[in-house]
Amino acid sequence: MISIQHYTKTFGKNTPNEVKALDDVSLEIKPSEFLLLIGSNGSGKSTLLNAIAGSYQGESGKIIIDGQDVSLWPEHKRAGLIGRVFQNPFLGTAPSMTIAENLQLASLRGKTKTLAIGLNKQRLSELKDRIQEFGMGLENRMDTPIGLLSGGQRQALTLLMATLIKPKVLLLDEHTAALDPRSAEQVLYMTEKIVAIFGLTAIMVTHSMEQAVGFGTRLVMMNQGKIIWDVAGDKKYELTADDLVRKFRNMQIQITV
Ligand SMILES: Nc1ncnc2c1ncn2[C@@H]1O[C@H](COP(=O)(O)OP(=O)(O)OP(=O)(O)O)[C@@H](O)[C@H]1O
Ligand SMILES: [Mg+2]
Repeated sequence: MISIQHYTKTFGKNTPNEVKALDDVSLEIKPSEFLLLIGSNGSGKSTLLNAIAGSYQGESGKIIIDGQDVSLWPEHKRAGLIGRVFQNPFLGTAPSMTIAENLQLASLRGKTKTLAIGLNKQRLSELKDRIQEFGMGLENRMDTPIGLLSGGQRQALTLLMATLIKPKVLLLDEHTAALDPRSAEQVLYMTEKIVAIFGLTAIMVTHSMEQAVGFGTRLVMMNQGKIIWDVAGDKKYELTADDLVRKFRNMQIQITV
């Protein structure tokens, strides 16, 4: 269970650029819940994910992950609990290291990192099996440096690395937005599969209304640092992309009047 309690984060406090990116946000996410997070640009979605990951501290509020109050934990200490995939395929992997080495590094997340623990044949074969599921032929390129792969291939690997050790929460910030349609579809398909098979608790940010209605078990909408809509279960399944577009339009009107 992830619990965010009365969390507030202001950027540029006491300056003319002051922005309340998160304004007294409270949110409880149950184990194995797959939460889709939507909202207009600047509504606070990435800030919420960064708050969970500990990229910075808020000025008030608490973050509880799996019963542990991590509010004061630095980012590196929380990393053992969290899997992350960003929009930018260049983040999250070491480009000069091979696919095999990156996967091995990810298998050591949260443990003492001695790369001296090499890849034995059995481990290599296990990792190849996992990577084969992506249907990108990457299992035949285990010795290729990641820097040589396409954005879609990198994103697939980053997803696999983020979930190789089951995270308490998987944070996906528009992780398919920079990909071509086919790669995006493959990465999304694998995201859904991995979340379901391992029963992961996940938050996925998207601007795609199709993704927002087609994926996940719960949908949360943010606006100006606040959660303004939260829908799950049958109500979520019955939603159409058109419903969401209408909801967005209504919201914009409320903002501008
Ligand atoms: N490091 C930062 N320094 C200053 N302001 C920031 C910083 N990060 C975010 N903000 C501001 O906080 C607000 C929320 O930003 P955030 O990135 O969380 O929005 P978002 O919902 O992820 O938007 P988008 O859909 O464009 O990614 C914005 O007004 C943004 O300009
Ligand atoms: Mg963002």
